[in-house]
Amino acid sequence: MAAPQDPSPNEAFRARLSRELRDVGVSAFNQDHRSMLGAILNFHELVENLSRRRPSNTDWRQVDDAMEHLSTYASTHFKAEESLMSLHGFPGLEEHRREHEAFVQRLAVFRQEVRTRNILVTVDVKFFLLEWLFTHINQMDYKYADFFRRKGVS
Ligand SMILES: [Fe+2]
Ligand SMILES: [Fe+2]
Repeated sequence: MAAPQDPSPNEAFRARLSRELRDVGVSAFNQDHRSMLGAILNFHELVENLSRRRPSNTDWRQVDDAMEHLSTYASTHFKAEESLMSLHGFPGLEEHRREHEAFVQRLAVFRQEVRTRNILVTVDVKFFLLEWLFTHINQMDYKYADFFRRKGVS
């Protein structure tokens, strides 16, 4: 029987980051958060690969597609969070909605900037996305965990 294989350094890194996402108490949202982290890490790999060579038009289209996927996924997730907050009368809804909106706008600006095909822009985007995701989930989203738990939502 073959010995169990160790996870690759890349998989181990992904698993470690995934564990650093706080449990926000709503399983569908936890799942969304893990998927968003996965999409952002895919974006990281893409940008790292592009930084090592001169990107082709096809490479740049992959970057555009990855950003479009992320922004669509994020918007859907944000709507789901806001709907649940609205349904249960979460007092922090407006503040939370503003933070989502700021992210959507920032991402739209980045998508335009990426059209200049400057690799340095994509490196900025790469760092921004991961930083934003962790700060937003672990601080802002975490604020609703207790509230929904008390409402019996899981
Ligand atoms: Fe979230
Ligand atoms: Fe959120």
